[in-house]
This record gives sequence, structure tokens and C-alpha cells, in this order.
Amino acid sequence: MPKKTKESLRSARWFAPDDLRSFGHRSRAMQMGYGPEDWAGKPVIAIINTWSDINPCHTHFKQRVEDVKRGIFQAGGFPLELPAISLAEQYVKPTTMLYRNMLAMETEELIRSHPVDGAVLMGGCDKTTPGLVMGALSAGLPFVYLPAGPMLRGNWKGKVLGSGSDAWKYWDERRAGKLSEAQWLEVEGGIARSHGTCMTMGTAATMMGIAEVLGLTLSGASSIPAADASHPRMAAACGRRIVEMVWEDLTPAKVLNKTSFLNAINAAMAMGCSTNAIIHLIAMSRRAGAACTVTLDDFDSASRKVPVIANIRPSGDQYLMEDFYYAGGMPALLKQMGSHLNPSAMTITGKTIGENIQDAQVHNEDVIRPLNKAIYQEGALAVLKGNIAPGGAVIKPSACAEKFLKHTGPALVFDSYPEMKKAVEDENLDVTENHILVLRNAGPKGGPGMPEWGMLPIPVKLVKQGVRDMLRLSDARMSGTSYGACILHASPEAYIGGPLALVKTGDLITVDVPNRKIHLEISDEELNQRKAKWVAPAPKYERGYGWMFSRHILQAEDGCDFDFLETSFGKPVPEPDI
Ligand code: FES
Ligand code: MG
Repeated sequence: MPKKTKESLRSARWFAPDDLRSFGHRSRAMQMGYGPEDWAGKPVIAIINTWSDINPCHTHFKQRVEDVKRGIFQAGGFPLELPAISLAEQYVKPTTMLYRNMLAMETEELIRSHPVDGAVLMGGCDKTTPGLVMGALSAGLPFVYLPAGPMLRGNWKGKVLGSGSDAWKYWDERRAGKLSEAQWLEVEGGIARSHGTCMTMGTAATMMGIAEVLGLTLSGASSIPAADASHPRMAAACGRRIVEMVWEDLTPAKVLNKTSFLNAINAAMAMGCSTNAIIHLIAMSRRAGAACTVTLDDFDSASRKVPVIANIRPSGDQYLMEDFYYAGGMPALLKQMGSHLNPSAMTITGKTIGENIQDAQVHNEDVIRPLNKAIYQEGALAVLKGNIAPGGAVIKPSACAEKFLKHTGPALVFDSYPEMKKAVEDENLDVTENHILVLRNAGPKGGPGMPEWGMLPIPVKLVKQGVRDMLRLSDARMSGTSYGACILHASPEAYIGGPLALVKTGDLITVDVPNRKIHLEISDEELNQRKAKWVAPAPKYERGYGWMFSRHILQAEDGCDFDFLETSFGKPVPEPDI
């Protein structure tokens, strides 16, 4: 039974009344060539499109939006494309994370301020998934998430190349003098050879997958390669489904609950997810309301139970997202998770996630492993705590050398990214592979925006000796396609006087991943003395967006949302007066 009637559509408030204001809305729609048969009694669907000329991951959105519109028309809706900031991961500086919340604000207000009844969100490149979803959750209208999908496998001289992961790897070869300029150019041309997002299990693939597990996409949508013909068909299906959802009044509040988020955390572990997933999932859960909120502890307890079964780089050694799709994609992974997935969670299909994946099959058990043949028995992430990071820090043990899981070594501290960048190229740097490289002032306020600087380069002196991994510690994030013994998100960050600000070069730091500890080997008295002498750095911004960002950004363990955007902050925003 439809729960919405033509009269009760939200858009009818703009288009239906016999008054002067609505005359304006209708006559201006007619100015664009539409007539009453386009809008009268029809769900109006916003298509929030994050296409731009400089976002290679979303190149196909210029065409895909037409497929979404086709689906909306087929189902008797009225599509309106509303473009939003694109957040191209590779180009936006200092980091797209500075603007994730801007996209969230833009999405929420685009939906709220326009005459729309529901939305299709088009995103995929790293921060676009959480940004769009956070905003749409706060707006509260029915929505479908359309994932951009991963690009095809990279290729260089017959070798498979993975986004990010192989860039770092071959860059080290180049720095070691083993790749010529011509070869390097070939790698540049071969590593990204179709539209779509990074095709390793980086932040993009992780977050698109998480959107699916949360029940916010059509089943199977997140694994379809961008260049596959299934992708435009899926886009049209999103258009058809959102129109039905408006009639059903299937709002996100009716889809999401705590189970959805716990499923998403478990699936993230099974995927061998990007560390960024932690921050984004916490932020999204807090937008979904107090009953849905997840914390760092939920990640740590999931990571102790759920094995990594997606054999995708960088946690896996061989395969990429294209292989994942051919192996059955996300529905097959969810099926393979067995009791680690709660099948009762609702989804935007109107069915539970268990019903959605009922017929899913794994076509290649080397890519999507059975639980008893996991590629990594304990989960993808570990949350470390101790005197140097009382608010927590994060490591991805599945992507680092085992000898670093328990290690004590002297700190080599850098106060800024430029300082670190210069030092690691110094052939005479006083460093051994036992050192722990520390980068600070790279957190949410200090970076600003917590740039992906956490995979500090191995000093060139050590690279030439054959060293390819060492312990690194920072309040930054790292790319989901990165790997290595990198401890990230140390909180509270150094820039606001967190203990990371008090470490000195030569101090011993102990890392103990099995026991989830990280400890600076100095006494509490010494730590307090250093704290008393600490001087806060000058503010980075005196005006503009950065000024607002610095005042309102939350720390990593709270999801880096703006405090005033959280659901718990103040009374709900009213509907606009018309
Ligand atoms: Fe867009 Fe990696 S750069 S997903
Ligand atoms: Mg990335």
C-alpha cells in the first residue's frame, strides 16, 4: 500500500497550491520547457551529482545521470539534477577531508531547500560517499546511493597495477634508481586506464561497499566496475527504485539502526578496509541518531572476531576490485561472512539484507575466501591506546610486516610535513630501521583536515639498504591504498596539545598490537612537565571556511564531523517556509 499520496508529496507544497507563490514555481518550471504533466502528482527526485571536469573517478557521471533520469521517468517521477562539490581525491588540497563536511552540508541543504521528495546520490571517490550520505541522513528524505564503481585493473607490460599501492611501490623502485624516466611514464599511463574510483580496497571501494552493507544502495551496486555495461543499467534501476521509495515513504530512519552499522563494521573488517572507514562510519552513525552511534571500541571488538576474507590489495596480495566483482562482489562477500552478518537489517530495496543476498554465490574462493581460509585471521584494524594516544590510535596490522606488531624503538620526530619530506631525502639522516618516525601537527585541526600523510616515506638512506617497512606514528590519516606499519589518528592531536606534541626525538616508544597498547616510555611527571611548557601554535586561519572548520571540527574518534552538524546538537531543523 502506498504510504504517500499525490497530495501529501513534499514537492506538492511548491507546485500544487492555487496561490501566487506557487504560480511562480509553476511558471518558472514552464520557462524550462516543462508542463504540468511533468510535475503534477509526481515524486520530484533530486539527483545530487558530484561530477566535475577534474574528477577522473566520476567522469562517467555526466552520462550516468541521464541513465538515472531514464529510470526516474520510467517509474513516473520527475528528475532534477543538482550538482554538488566533486571532491576529487588527487587534486583537492590540502586534503579532500577538509571539505567532506562541506559536501555534507551542501547535500543536506540542497535537499532541504528544493522542492524534492527523494534523492539519488552520485558519489564514489573517497570522501564523496560519507559526505553525501551524512548530508542526506540529516535531510531525512528517502534516498538511494549510486556508487561510481571501481576502474578497471591497471596494466604495465602485462603486470597488473593497483591504484595507490603500486604507485608507492614503484616510486620506491624509482627512488632506488631501478626505473628509468620512460618506464615511469609508462607506469603513469597504465595505472589508471578507465573511469571509476581506485580499484584497490582503498577508501573509495571500502566506503562504497559500506554504503551497500548499510542498506543504502541496490544490492550488488557497489562492486560493479564503472566501465561495465551493468553500471548504467544499475543507474537506471536506482532511478526507478527511488520513485517507489517515495511512495513507500521509506526514509533512512526506517532503514538504519544499530544493527546496520554493526554489520557495516563487520563487513569492513572482512573487506580488509581502509583505516578511513573508521572515521567516516563513526560520523555517519552519529548523523543517523543516538541509537545508531558506533565507537572505536565497536571496531576493535569486531576486528578481534572477523577475519579478512576479501583477498584484495593492499591487504591481499594479488586481486583488485574487478576480480572481486567477477567473484560475486559484495553480496557474495556478505554471504561468505556467515554469522558475522545479521541478516535482519533493513535496506532501501524494502527487503532485509539477508533477503537481498539469499541467492548470492561466490564464483572464486581465492578472491572471496571462506572464513576458514581467511587471508588474515584477526581483523583488518586494531585500536591502540596509551599515554601517547589516550583517545586512541589506529593501525592496519593486515597490511604491515609482522615484526612491527611488538616493537620498542627511539622516536624520530617531525613537527611538520615539509620538515619530514626534506629529512627523509637526506642521505645522512641519523636513522635506523628500528626508529619510529613521528609526524605531528597533521590532525583534524593541525593538518588542517587530517591529510593522508600517515604513510611517511621510508628515509631514502634506508630504502637503498633494502628497507621497505618501518614503524610510523602520526595524528594524520593515510590513504586506504597505503600499507606498512603506520599508526594513525593519534588522539588528541598534537596541534591542540595532545601528548603526541610532547614526544622528543630519542624517546622510546613501545608498540604492542596484540595487547592494543602504545606507550611513550617516560614518567607521568616528565610528561606533565613537558605539558606545562607546551605553547599552543598560532591559529592557521583568520577568516573563511578554514576558520569555521578549526572551531567546529571534532577529533578522529568522534568522526571529524562539525559539532553543530551532529544530530544531537540543538533542535531539529524545521522545513523551509514556502
Ligand atoms: Fe578517486 Fe581514489 S582518487 S577514488
Ligand atoms: Mg584514497
